[in-house]
Amino acid sequence: MGKIKWERSFPSQVYTKWAGKSVYYYKSINSTNVKAHELAAQGARHGSVVLADKQTAGRGRRGRQWDSPPGENLYFTLLLYPKLPARKASMLTLVMALAVGKALGEVTGHEIWIKWPNDMVLNGKKVAGILTEMQARNDEIDHVIIGVGVNVARREFEGELAEKATSLENEVENQVTREALLAGILEHFEILYEMFCLKGNMRDLRQAYESYLINKGRQVLVLDPTGEFAGIALGINDTGELQVQLKDGTVQSVYAGEVSVRGVYGYV
Ligand code: BTN
Repeated sequence: MGKIKWERSFPSQVYTKWAGKSVYYYKSINSTNVKAHELAAQGARHGSVVLADKQTAGRGRRGRQWDSPPGENLYFTLLLYPKLPARKASMLTLVMALAVGKALGEVTGHEIWIKWPNDMVLNGKKVAGILTEMQARNDEIDHVIIGVGVNVARREFEGELAEKATSLENEVENQVTREALLAGILEHFEILYEMFCLKGNMRDLRQAYESYLINKGRQVLVLDPTGEFAGIALGINDTGELQVQLKDGTVQSVYAGEVSVRGVYGYV
């Protein structure tokens, strides 16, 4: 797969009403999430996309860094002004995961899975991650940003990533361009977001999300800051919480927040 240049107009073709109609492209930036917050403060429009070829301080979930070398991967952030109470914002991570799952499935022809709430999995390894951040006053959202990183052409992963991360280049035979992938994600997201906003919950998207949910029916280990526990993941509820059945038969709802979920014997 050849290196893809971003300098030409981007994304090439997006059939949307608002998602990605404004694109802010940076050859190098600290983090597209950080920039999206700044652009929101300057009044950037709903659906603006911040895109970078390289990030010098890419952010991952739970304070981790997201390694973001140039020329290889997709790094973008979508800016939204949802009319929702702040406590509902975390569900947007699930909506984006579903959009990324659909788009990745289409462009790769491979089976894509979601490891709740926000890891995208291909052949048992993580190929993409999502980081949602919000600015709110009391329970009122000012803006939400959803950052997405997809390992497209990266070949080597060091340290703990070697075990659990992969890229499209490593797993997929056909050539996938970052442009096509971004366009697909935005198109799916726009439709799914509008469905989500009708009810302000995951009710209408739950079945679709669960069809991608790799944890469903499997033993999971929930690593909660207040303690860890194991159980069987049943699916999600209408507010996107993972439903985990404990040994005694009771069902515990797990809210995304600071929690991490993994397989009992490994990553999934
Ligand atoms: C995770 O830990 O799985 C979430 C990773 C999210 C990475 C993306 S890359 C684009 C956007 N900008 C950032 O700084 N982070 C997100």
